[in-house]
Amino acid sequence: MANLSLVNVCKTFKNGQVAVKNFNLDIKDQEFLILVGPSGCGKSTTLRMIAGLEEISSGELWIDGMLMNLTVPQKRDLSMVFQSYALYPHLTVYENMAFSLRVRKIEKAEIDKRVRKAADVLCISYLLDRKPRALSGGQKQRVAIGSAIVREPRAYLMDEPLSNLDAKLRTQMRVELSKIHKELGATIIYVTHDQVEAMTLGTRIVVMDSGVILQADKPDVLYRNPVNKFVAGFIGSPSMNFIPVWVERREDRICVEFSRNRLFVNEECAQRLIDGDYLGRRVYLGIRPEDFHETGSKEQKLKLNVDIKEILGSEILLHGKIGRHSVCARLKPDFSSEAGKEASVFADMNQILLFDMDTEENLLYR
Ligand SMILES: Nc1ncnc2c1ncn2[C@@H]1O[C@H](COP(=O)(O)OP(=O)(O)OP(=O)(O)O)[C@@H](O)[C@H]1O
Ligand SMILES: [Mg+2]
Repeated sequence: MANLSLVNVCKTFKNGQVAVKNFNLDIKDQEFLILVGPSGCGKSTTLRMIAGLEEISSGELWIDGMLMNLTVPQKRDLSMVFQSYALYPHLTVYENMAFSLRVRKIEKAEIDKRVRKAADVLCISYLLDRKPRALSGGQKQRVAIGSAIVREPRAYLMDEPLSNLDAKLRTQMRVELSKIHKELGATIIYVTHDQVEAMTLGTRIVVMDSGVILQADKPDVLYRNPVNKFVAGFIGSPSMNFIPVWVERREDRICVEFSRNRLFVNEECAQRLIDGDYLGRRVYLGIRPEDFHETGSKEQKLKLNVDIKEILGSEILLHGKIGRHSVCARLKPDFSSEAGKEASVFADMNQILLFDMDTEENLLYR
């Protein structure tokens, strides 16, 4: 059981580097909270402040109703899993996992129960007698996670725990982590650079930039309803396409125009653009790669000059230009297209977003 609350938490390092600014967040019991953001935005620093490994410069950290700012890490009852995991080389997997419990003088039978249960969840029961040197990277990673699980802490803090695994193991571990989260009813705060991990594991995703929270929401909400261009571009892979367009009134309807293309927006968009006084001004049109379709009406049609065609099996990615603007479109594998040629794609005008040129805020934010 763990409810965490960060109130106006700031971190300034001794050299003057401001790493985290006014971080405000309530993390509820059993949440799987994901922290994402570009390198250096303050994710690890935030996690380390929660763990007690880094002093909080100002603000408050509450765990289950108790102020924790000055509490030593051992007394916070949190487990941290780092990107580079440390196992004791001379101890077996079993002994590695049991280590922190032995230190705490927990009964042998209880230790045995917890180690075997964790090993079972992580599918490493058959490795319990081995030494770390006889393990693969992925197995070591699971032992490290196992060592964290057996402690049955109030919450788990994980800093890119899967980052040095190959793609297949990552997928496997991702599924296992999801199971662990459900089975243990654990509260997890998890840093990752991986889009798929963030979208599939997170009950909520926090997007950070330059030490501040830009948006904290459920994955699907972040994806479809980002607050601004940064979040829109950061969530989703390949990224959302951004095209500078002019907002105009034509044939008594509202449209966006660029490089001799004209796309009529739907009624909701039109109303927002009129209300916001955007007629005759420039905005960014945001469209995700999968919101280009193979068929559609004449009004949605765009000519894409294909530079590169990537065949991914279940889909293809076309990288090219519409007018002067680089875009990426994700289409069905049977879509007829070729690098060096022109292809007709159709924009889904009910899925587009529009962003203010200066503030970069989402004009359709709900
Ligand atoms: N001990 C330190 N002293 C001074 N500055 C630091 C220290 N640790 C981190 N920083 C700076 O604080 C900022 C945030 O660092 P942090 O490690 O939290 O980033 P991050 O989001 O985890 O990045 P990454 O994705 O690369 O791991 C960076 O600008 C970093 O250079
Ligand atoms: Mg980091």
